[in-house]
Amino acid sequence: MNAPPADVAAPGPAGEPERVRFWAALVRPLLERLATPFYLFSVTPVRAALAELEARLSHLPVRHWLSFKTQPLRPLLRWWRAQDRAVEVVSEFEFLAARAEGFAPEQILVNGPAKHHWLPRHAVPGLSVNLDSVAEARALAPLARGLGWRLGLRLNTAEEFDPESPRHPTQFGLTPTEARPVLHHLRRCGREPEILHFHLRTNVTSARCYERALREAAAFCAAARWRPRFVDCGGGWPPPGVRDRAGRRLDARFNWDALRRLLERARGWFPGLEEFWLENGRWLTARSGVLVVTVRDVKERRGLRHLICDGGRTLQALVSLWEQHELFGLPARRGPRVLTAITGPTCMAFDQLARRPLPRALRPGDRLVWLDAGAYHLPWETRFSHGRAAVAWHDGRQVRVVRRAERFAEWWAQWG
Ligand SMILES: Cc1ncc(COP(=O)(O)O)c(C=O)c1O
Repeated sequence: MNAPPADVAAPGPAGEPERVRFWAALVRPLLERLATPFYLFSVTPVRAALAELEARLSHLPVRHWLSFKTQPLRPLLRWWRAQDRAVEVVSEFEFLAARAEGFAPEQILVNGPAKHHWLPRHAVPGLSVNLDSVAEARALAPLARGLGWRLGLRLNTAEEFDPESPRHPTQFGLTPTEARPVLHHLRRCGREPEILHFHLRTNVTSARCYERALREAAAFCAAARWRPRFVDCGGGWPPPGVRDRAGRRLDARFNWDALRRLLERARGWFPGLEEFWLENGRWLTARSGVLVVTVRDVKERRGLRHLICDGGRTLQALVSLWEQHELFGLPARRGPRVLTAITGPTCMAFDQLARRPLPRALRPGDRLVWLDAGAYHLPWETRFSHGRAAVAWHDGRQVRVVRRAERFAEWWAQWG
């Protein structure tokens, strides 16, 4: 990698100088050949996150599935496959993409709701399929039997709720009351499920939540005399350092030791267990990308300075609605700070990437680099008044443009 530039400093909250240097060194040369806005993703942070994950859980039997939806980036998928690793998909398009990229059926885990409406079109032997509803189980059981699928049940535990209104359960999986007859039905069809699955939500705050879910799942299995070979705990781990809009660290109560001890104990709760499966998306890939925008105009009114940029929340960073990320400027500007809103170019006050004290010296033409754009940014892009941004990929050695910015002709050609 190029030597880090000496004059880069984060105008946002202090800290993270290493990450700022890493990304600044990659972004700088790119600015000469790529117009903003663009995303830049790198394999280096994914590799580091994966190595950490494996080192911390090394004494446990764990398989890590790549959560495709979190970061549907072709070169990442190719890299993952080259490591001989497996992928989790939740839609027909993701399934077809995984097949197009050469994943064998044995390396594909199919999750997601209502898949009985598309999976039969692409049914091949060897898949792993987590059933999400009673209707799915009825529709897919005969196929599963004929094609030798490894089946799982997604259990909707009491620990799974809508984070925006915690009183309400989510729409996913089978409640224990639904799961019991499904289990009997599958047994009658000669297809004993092998996977017990749950996914609680994203940015789960503490290992305690997993403990409650695992205990409930274990009690269900004991009552149903079911001995799953694989316990799939889904994803949901918060990546280090990410904050909510109020500035609170989302991983403040997330503790590796507690998690490791929990998995060690939980092995004893599932007598048939061979492996834990994990599908962490955010934890693996959030840190693997940045969004780069240019300040195009500046306004100041009623105590707030607005930097109007060519990209932002609405187009590229919906996650900024509930998360606050580090960002830095190129060139680095210092001096007195003033409350500043970084806005995108679309016609809504909603389009606000961040609002925080930033140097008054920031001016039109400056570049702003928004960190942790690697998870749930690409899949939530919009084309609101504009085309899609360019995407560059760093494979650990070189940076190449893997998607160019959408042109007007392509944007308008959507109408046939
Ligand atoms: C079934 C399933 N597994 C894994 C994930 C990845 O979650 P996260 O990115 O929070 O780790 C999701 C996200 O919605 C999911 O629905």
